[in-house]
Amino acid sequence: MKVNIIKKKFNPKANLKDYEKEYKDFDINLFKAEIKCFPDGKTNAAYLATDIHLKGPNKNKIALYWEGENGQELKYSFLELSEASSKTGNLLKNIGVEKGDRVFIFLPRIPELFISFLGILKIGAIAGTLFAAFGPQALEDRLKNSGAKVLITHPDFYSRVKKILPQLKNLEKIILIDEKNRVNFLEEKNLEKSPKIDNCQFYYSLMEKASSKLKVSHMNLTDPAFMLYTSGTTGKPKGVVHHHQAILHEKISAKYVLDIKDNDVYWCTADPGWVTGIAYEILGTWALGASTLVYQGRFNPEKWYSLIEEYKVNVWYTAPTAIRMLAASGLDLVKKFDLTSLRHLASVGEPLNPESVLWGIKAFNLPFHDNYWQTETGGIVIANYPNLDIKAGSMGKPMLGIKAAIVDKKGKKLKPNKEGALVLKPGWSSMMKKIWRRPEKYQSYFKNNWYITGDRAYKDKDNYFWFVGRADDVIKTAGERVGPFEVESALVSHPKIIEAGVIGKPDKMRGEIIKAFVTLKKGVKPTKTLVEDIKNYVKKHLAGHAYPREIEFRDKLPKTRSGKIVRRLLKAQELGLPIGDTSTLEDY
Ligand code: PRX
Repeated sequence: MKVNIIKKKFNPKANLKDYEKEYKDFDINLFKAEIKCFPDGKTNAAYLATDIHLKGPNKNKIALYWEGENGQELKYSFLELSEASSKTGNLLKNIGVEKGDRVFIFLPRIPELFISFLGILKIGAIAGTLFAAFGPQALEDRLKNSGAKVLITHPDFYSRVKKILPQLKNLEKIILIDEKNRVNFLEEKNLEKSPKIDNCQFYYSLMEKASSKLKVSHMNLTDPAFMLYTSGTTGKPKGVVHHHQAILHEKISAKYVLDIKDNDVYWCTADPGWVTGIAYEILGTWALGASTLVYQGRFNPEKWYSLIEEYKVNVWYTAPTAIRMLAASGLDLVKKFDLTSLRHLASVGEPLNPESVLWGIKAFNLPFHDNYWQTETGGIVIANYPNLDIKAGSMGKPMLGIKAAIVDKKGKKLKPNKEGALVLKPGWSSMMKKIWRRPEKYQSYFKNNWYITGDRAYKDKDNYFWFVGRADDVIKTAGERVGPFEVESALVSHPKIIEAGVIGKPDKMRGEIIKAFVTLKKGVKPTKTLVEDIKNYVKKHLAGHAYPREIEFRDKLPKTRSGKIVRRLLKAQELGLPIGDTSTLEDY
């Protein structure tokens, strides 16, 4: 295979001057004083992302540029962000939230999402974020397992929550964001009265009564700070818990991988419902004092370019599917905008194909820098860097402080160019702390003194890592991680379906799409209308992004003798690959 190498001219202004040297010399202990930000040696990630700036030149600098989906614009300085999050912390304390309680956020990308997240961490509670497209089933799984005590949500989302309330025994309070009172509150005007909605309370009414003076909780480095549910091959989504010291790795990687500088305007297109939006839209990047742009609206090439132009974005962090969609919208569109503010481009979440890296050069005169990590790693672990040549299609080299290897089943390192399991040496600061209520699941990630990523890869003789694929059935569709089991469970709850098997099917634009194979109840006709009905059913019950774009009706599904549907076989058949050993399968 011919590899396209993008040679880099030495940039003396880049944060990381010489990757090989800095990787060799890196010593995390030199950064430990930074994380122990209180005199008693304790820490708080939200303090490090906001309040710490009040002592320095960034106090009145814009921390958050926000643009709503209808074009509303707002700005929060670090001081304003600090005060609003402290008030939110007090608001939560006033309604009984204590250290260690789980407070979940189910919101669109509005300023209150970011403010609440910080407020929760400031009082030592554990923040959980829920993606805005989740339906009742996805919400129930997460809120029930976490035992969330408080939910902060939006009146427009409340109908989805209401459906599952009887199942949420631990949920004591629901706070709704009364968006129409945001400006009244900010301008210190009287608030408009909100309509009564069940027993919910309204955010700005509570904010009015809360003080902005908060004694931020002093936390141990390994106290839990936030949790995110993510999918595996089997079972319900699992709650990955991260600790306060995660911010250290996130800050260092934001500096050296994303090349963020103090005066930058930075735009990360991810949603804080997923880990990227937390690590590199809230914690790591605000810890560096960057001004962050948040756009609430959906993907739209013209709008995205106009945002870069208007806010003079310097560093842009996005995802392969978005890059491919931008490329499909053509170069002529790009050329209509002045995008010369851009200095560094990065991408994460799924394989970045070489054409996309090169398209960056055509469109913006800059390559996209791919990097690799997972919800569980809490921060970037393999990356391409400003001063390092890019081999288009490779994920790059291990991040400073990270030891990565390719190993065989026994944990033995493999030679260059040999495919194996991608593993990491445990111990970096943003490595997950536990899986909520599932200690055995947490333990299963570690073998032979390695953390097992579940991905297959190889590294070449120059130590560049190349992604091959998942070792399990986890699906990555448009960068979002979906467990086949969750989709199958939603499908079999449809009144006309008996069984379902779900796979990821390669797709040029989205990386993978979800394909479902289903058997129908006796007498049900496999019509086109039924296909649409099933898709809508999954969208509504599970999540807007996790529905099967393709559905195939079958009389029978391949199963093991113990009755488990064999996704591997469905995938092999779909892709026309050898079906392998079928001796343990039931006749079918
Ligand atoms: O399979 C890998 C893929 O995404 C998985 C992690 O997904 P998630 O936990 O949702 O975290 C996404 C935010 C970082 C990985 O196990 N993945 C992630 N980045 C890349 C990737 N696959 C190929 N290339 C990447 N750069």
